[in-house]
Amino acid sequence: MAAPPPPAGRKRILCVGLVCLDIISVVEAYPAEDTDTRCVSQRWQRGGNASNSCTVLALLGAPCAFMGSLAPGHAADFIVADFRRRGVDVAHVAWQPRGDVPCACCVVNATSGSRTIVLSDTNLPDVTARDFEQVDLSQYKWIHWEGRNASEQVKMIQRVEEHNRAQPPAQRIRISVEVEKPREELYQLFGHGDVVFVSKDVARHLGYGSAAEAVRGLRGRLRPGATLVCAWAEAGADAVGPDGQPVHSDAFPPAAVVDTLGAGDTFNAAVIFALSEGQSLQDAVTLGCRVAGRKCGVQGYDGIV
Ligand code: FRU
Repeated sequence: MAAPPPPAGRKRILCVGLVCLDIISVVEAYPAEDTDTRCVSQRWQRGGNASNSCTVLALLGAPCAFMGSLAPGHAADFIVADFRRRGVDVAHVAWQPRGDVPCACCVVNATSGSRTIVLSDTNLPDVTARDFEQVDLSQYKWIHWEGRNASEQVKMIQRVEEHNRAQPPAQRIRISVEVEKPREELYQLFGHGDVVFVSKDVARHLGYGSAAEAVRGLRGRLRPGATLVCAWAEAGADAVGPDGQPVHSDAFPPAAVVDTLGAGDTFNAAVIFALSEGQSLQDAVTLGCRVAGRKCGVQGYDGIV
């Protein structure tokens, strides 16, 4: 089914990646193994990096769409209803005839804000380059990939690059990728896209001790003219753009950190939003830290913008 045209002719931002069901138990103290305790509250929440970034883009006022896999059933009904509630377009969901919607049990410690995730992400096929051929690229101004099935994602990116070659510069789709998990297969994504987000986890895995060190050290893996962004929790975030000038923003910690689930996805969304609106890299990284900070001060996403 074709997506309706974006409101008032505004082009959308598309995020490709995971959507899952997060079953979140909020606790006051992290439980010890093999104990039986009560939580303070429990909720279902739509999760997955690309899906969470869509939530934040929608809250920031950007028309956006999600592309990822789902299989029909209760979890998918909940997820689709939640996307719609937030105004995220779901026309590009790849409905799979077999497999289970990924589900995560998450323990959020409201005293420290820590989130402990156990994800079941086993048998639902990922979006393929074939699925991506259905996307009408003329509707989008920015497409973001959460690194998952990277070899297939590279083919999708190449389709967009080819499309871009036939467009005048102002009409080209900006491409971003996220390398969040320390998995060798994902590292090929460093060489693709205009903006690359690398996580603290991956940066540490590759031997870097800070975001500034990571952007300096990993920049050589990017294609010329690309931007590298690395957020580092309470140490803020660093980035380097095509001009080679490093930028930094401190974190904006809330009065109390209660829920860090999805804080990285929030940061990515706010950076993409700012850059897609033509803001400078410094302003984009600062907005990312600001909005991510607000997210850490509340449960879920309501009230972060
Ligand atoms: C947060 C998140 C959760 C999900 C998990 C998957 O970044 O996307 O919503 O359960 O990570 O790895």
